[in-house]
Amino acid sequence: MLLGASVLIGLLSGAGALARLRDSVELRSAFSVARTSSMEGGPKMTVTFDAVYVNIGGDFDTKAGLFRCRIPGAYYFSFTVGKFPHKDLSVMLMKNRNEVQAIVYEENAGEERKVQSQSVMLQLDFGDSVWLRLHGDPRYALYSNTGHYTTFNGYLVYPDTYGYQTHRHHPQQHPAYSPQQPQRDATRPPNAQELTKPGAMAGQEEEEEEEEEEEDQRSAFSVGRTQSILGVNQAGLPQHQPVSFDTAFVNIGEDFNVTGGVFSCRVPGAYYFSFNVGKLPQKTLSVKLMKNHLEVQAMIYDDSQGEKALQSQSLMLALRPGDTVWLYSHQRDGFGAYSNHAKYITFTGFLVYPDMVTDQRP
Ligand SMILES: *[C@@H]1O[C@H](CO)[C@@H](O)[C@H](O)[C@H]1NC(C)=O
Repeated sequence: MLLGASVLIGLLSGAGALARLRDSVELRSAFSVARTSSMEGGPKMTVTFDAVYVNIGGDFDTKAGLFRCRIPGAYYFSFTVGKFPHKDLSVMLMKNRNEVQAIVYEENAGEERKVQSQSVMLQLDFGDSVWLRLHGDPRYALYSNTGHYTTFNGYLVYPDTYGYQTHRHHPQQHPAYSPQQPQRDATRPPNAQELTKPGAMAGQEEEEEEEEEEEDQRSAFSVGRTQSILGVNQAGLPQHQPVSFDTAFVNIGEDFNVTGGVFSCRVPGAYYFSFNVGKLPQKTLSVKLMKNHLEVQAMIYDDSQGEKALQSQSLMLALRPGDTVWLYSHQRDGFGAYSNHAKYITFTGFLVYPDMVTDQRP
């Protein structure tokens, strides 16, 4: 125990470690909010919130219903929305004015109440906003009450160190209104080099070495699929093909092969995974989270007769280098999964805790 403490003090006394410690305190942004009343589709489509559980950094404006990015980086967002009796449900996760990221949807004006959930990770630049949009037609509504069916959460997983440091070098009393935010073409997604080697972009040679140490420990992906999957009975088809994707929200470390649909572990540690899949009318939904060769870790299933809807699942896995993680949708006739350009099908994973060298016992 004493040895452990002195090693810790030794680590902390390094200037780099202290700087990192200070950064980790400053680089915090998280919110968790809920809504205590229902809402019907209309001209005002932004979902607002009136119960605040967490608002670290004050980046979520509950009255406006907007999260505003203050610290550039990769954020994990999740939301759950209640379905109103005799109404359809359609709520989209939006970025800025009109960029649809993902959706919860239930096409079933039946009398029942239920909830639907969705989650993605987004790479945000300074000033980007993220919000929930209820479909504007009164045919749609969301349900909530003091039991809080409708909730919205987000938190910073990996700060974009380059952006933040560049920003910090211009002292501003109110960073939220600083015109000197890092200039990057907002219409262009960040490339791998920007994500993995931020120090190099800023030309900060001295700090680069330290940062590379940290960058190596980052791994995150979040992908979406804009097309449905239909199971077919067909001899000769390759068995157990991973679900492939066509949209990458985040791919820090490039550990996820988007077209192949496979995540390969580079940094050993504990990873969080979540996935959401739409149900096709008249088809059974059966999607499994696989590890390596056909080791089922978790699944979602829905064999109801219902119309379009969404199912969700999440878990953490301890992975070693080379382990693969992927989704499998049952390929037989009668099975399928629904998606379209609003992205019902999403898959997210990120490293929560890398394995530590100091875990080795003396
Ligand atoms: C990604 O997966 C596809 C399909 O399996 C494969 O053809 C391609 O080579 C892979 N890409 C990389 C970079 O490994």
